[in-house]
Amino acid sequence: MRQGLMAAAAVAAMGAAVWASGAAAAPSAAPTPPMGWNSWNHFEAKIDDATVRAQADAMVASGMRDAGYRYINIDDTWEGERDAKGVIHPNAKFPDMKALADYVHSKGLKLGIYSSPGPKTCAGYEGSFGHEAQDAQTYAAWGIDYLKYDLCSLSAPMLKAGSLEKAQAIEVEAYRKMDAALKATGRPMVYSLCQYGFYQVWRWGGSVGGNLWRTTGDITDKFARMATIGFGQAGLSKYAKPGNWNDPDMLEVGNGGMNALEYRTHMSLWAILAAPLLAGNDLSKMSDETKAILTNREVIAIDQDPAGRQGDRVRSEGPLEVWAKPLAGGGKAVGLFNLSDQPANMDVSFAELGFKGPVKARDVWGAKDLGKVKSHHAVVPAHAVVLLRVGA
Ligand code: GLA
Repeated sequence: MRQGLMAAAAVAAMGAAVWASGAAAAPSAAPTPPMGWNSWNHFEAKIDDATVRAQADAMVASGMRDAGYRYINIDDTWEGERDAKGVIHPNAKFPDMKALADYVHSKGLKLGIYSSPGPKTCAGYEGSFGHEAQDAQTYAAWGIDYLKYDLCSLSAPMLKAGSLEKAQAIEVEAYRKMDAALKATGRPMVYSLCQYGFYQVWRWGGSVGGNLWRTTGDITDKFARMATIGFGQAGLSKYAKPGNWNDPDMLEVGNGGMNALEYRTHMSLWAILAAPLLAGNDLSKMSDETKAILTNREVIAIDQDPAGRQGDRVRSEGPLEVWAKPLAGGGKAVGLFNLSDQPANMDVSFAELGFKGPVKARDVWGAKDLGKVKSHHAVVPAHAVVLLRVGA
């Protein structure tokens, strides 16, 4: 409900901006960072119709839908052959994509799919090259709500282009082409660019219609990789806004390669980054601990804050980093991150975050009000975070 209200507020704010400029534009399909689930991180190629239905069921039963998660996204390996007319069909793992979309929609959820602007996807399946308009129409007819469009084999002609400029032109043209094809269907679909952050995609991803764009290579279920990607987002905050998000890749929470404190760090950092929250675990087999991390309403509210502002690094001292995200109403979410292997004393003064005098503060994971204070001190365990909501 709260989620819905926040999304509605963001859409209304955008509507007002459009009205003020006199332009007519459809509301964005992603006024706040998309939330959902994607098959790749956990299932890779072992994904099929029954598993996707089970994830949709679990998204509802676990309370994730009510916490704001919406998209059930099928990643690579669903693709089958094209028929004589060039129309793409799913492979035997997905007997009826329209029926699957109907099922997912009947749960109050949305269905996403995956393709490549190249002739082949990263896993070697059929891509959309030369069939963009046709594929977009097929997705719309099935009832698809979200497309992840992954560069993959288009990198081959780019490498042969002869210059960085020519290579980039190939890429930009390909992403524009699919954007136009999606828009021509008349069905709103979230458009997710996946090209691993080449050519500073944050500078132009929005101009080719992207609602989100991957800023890095693939995440793995290891603290070091997650931290390299997440903390490597420093400096990108100015490129995110409602409708256009930096995407540091999908979540690994619950996949087993990190401990609970590390997964809290992952979730907190993604929330501060206003990153898409796409769970990448098996939702049908979640521990209570995993569920609690993924459905923490206060953390989700930071990610989905209607101001739509990405947070950034405030300062770092070796492995100790302080990050902050501006929130609607003048508050800030603040993360005290300890990337070292030892517990660390960390301090933040709220004056350094721009607050004057004592302000209301709350320890988010501790679910504890800290009163009106001017600073906070914490002993932060190894690889952990203390996440605060300050000032509002
Ligand atoms: C690339 C993407 C991943 C996933 C795979 C599928 O590696 O970055 O997120 O989609 O392709 O093959």
